[in-house]
Amino acid sequence: MFFNKIRQTALMAVVATISAGVASAETEVKIGYALAPDSHYGVAAEKWQEVVEAKTDGKFKFRHFPSSGLGGEREVVEGLQLGTVEATIVSTGTLSNFVPATGVTDIPFLFRSLEHARNVLDGPVGQEILADFDGAGLVAVAWGEQGFRHITNNRNPIETPEDLAGMKLRTMENPVHLSAFNALGAAPTPMAWPEVIGALQQGTIDGQENPLSVIVSVKLNEVQKYLTLSGHVYSPAMLLISKPFWDGLSDEEKAAFEEGATEAVVAMRGFVDDVEQSGVETLKERGMEVNELSEEQKAAFRASVESAYEGYYETYGKDLIDRISATE
Ligand code: PAF
Repeated sequence: MFFNKIRQTALMAVVATISAGVASAETEVKIGYALAPDSHYGVAAEKWQEVVEAKTDGKFKFRHFPSSGLGGEREVVEGLQLGTVEATIVSTGTLSNFVPATGVTDIPFLFRSLEHARNVLDGPVGQEILADFDGAGLVAVAWGEQGFRHITNNRNPIETPEDLAGMKLRTMENPVHLSAFNALGAAPTPMAWPEVIGALQQGTIDGQENPLSVIVSVKLNEVQKYLTLSGHVYSPAMLLISKPFWDGLSDEEKAAFEEGATEAVVAMRGFVDDVEQSGVETLKERGMEVNELSEEQKAAFRASVESAYEGYYETYGKDLIDRISATE
């Protein structure tokens, strides 16, 4: 009886060891992103997972860390470089700190429409920037997007650049955005995203700027009164993979990740198209006071950031900026 029990326990241990062996044949893909699973990031990450898992017969299992579960975007990208995180979907906020050329896509009033931005990013300029990531321990597989950024705040509605005077406005940790808001006369405060809601609640900053996709998803209406549809800058996103992880993949596996990323971008852009249509109504219903800048009002903002363009020409080259403007 006693020996039977020992035999049974030993058998169970062997079965458990075999199962663990089978489980470890699956490779975990930790994917971190700043927003909730039902955001444009979550939708893209789900699609990416679905395609990769289907194309590799379940060899790769995605494990999601939404809502900044792995920290701010800079920390996540550093995790990719180190090989402790396999994938991310990230804004360009911090990316010019890793690959300076990315900053050209953050220039205010450069992209005229979502269509224009998508054509540039899917065309030679966008692809040249993606290729630059190789030198930074990162594999940039595709451009995603968030939409055009707008300003929210608790101080006053914004109709002219003067309405921004001295406003403590959180910006991403991004030198291009910083110089633009300095030129506009605001008091820009670069801050990692995980700190923003607390800072708005405590009143250490008056406002922030983000696309409708983000404002709706994180319910910024709960901590912000005014929304100004300024569309002052397009906000791209990127689907990145850790280079140490990538280097361990076979060609077929790399193709699965690339195809998954392409489909994820389609899903992400579709989500952004929808929220660009419905987002303003949603935020009005939730109680935000919304004003949209007229073309004339927008021209005044554009004129105010003109002085920052000298710096952008110097950093990125006038030719490149002109190439972007000239793209249909
Ligand atoms: O404002 C930002 O930092 C980004 O747009 C966000 C919200 C983290 C999404 O990438």
